[in-house]
Amino acid sequence: MRFYLLLPLAIALLPTVAAADNCEVSISAGDGMAFSTRTMNIPLSCGEFTVNFEHTGRLPKGGMGHNWVLAQTSDVPEIVNAGITAGLANDYLPENDARVIASTPILGGGENASVTFETGSLNADSSYTFFCSFPGHSAMMRGSVNLVD
Ligand code: CO
Repeated sequence: MRFYLLLPLAIALLPTVAAADNCEVSISAGDGMAFSTRTMNIPLSCGEFTVNFEHTGRLPKGGMGHNWVLAQTSDVPEIVNAGITAGLANDYLPENDARVIASTPILGGGENASVTFETGSLNADSSYTFFCSFPGHSAMMRGSVNLVD
């Protein structure tokens, strides 16, 4: 009887998928308008890719908020403009907009968030950019994505 009770627990404790190290990346931003990195490698073979984003500063999200957003490079200007209209309540992103491939909420100092997305949604022939959609930030807070195998 004890065996049958413990088995489901043992299964639940096993990691479902052991993600390779290169299928997860950590990135941060502080109280300035800069990400900790300007480039990011995303292996298309990952299946799922996770970005762990941290605001290491102290300022509140209303004044110096940051998010991490992934989109096709050509879509960034329109997403940024639509985000200004959407406002902080919508994390400065247009709602239900398929051009936003992945995004975290807008974070204030000391907060962190993770986002996981399917690499199958990325096209090897397209150019992708990550950026912060807080008004006025994307000119400085952006980086290029290298799609790798
Ligand atoms: Co920002």
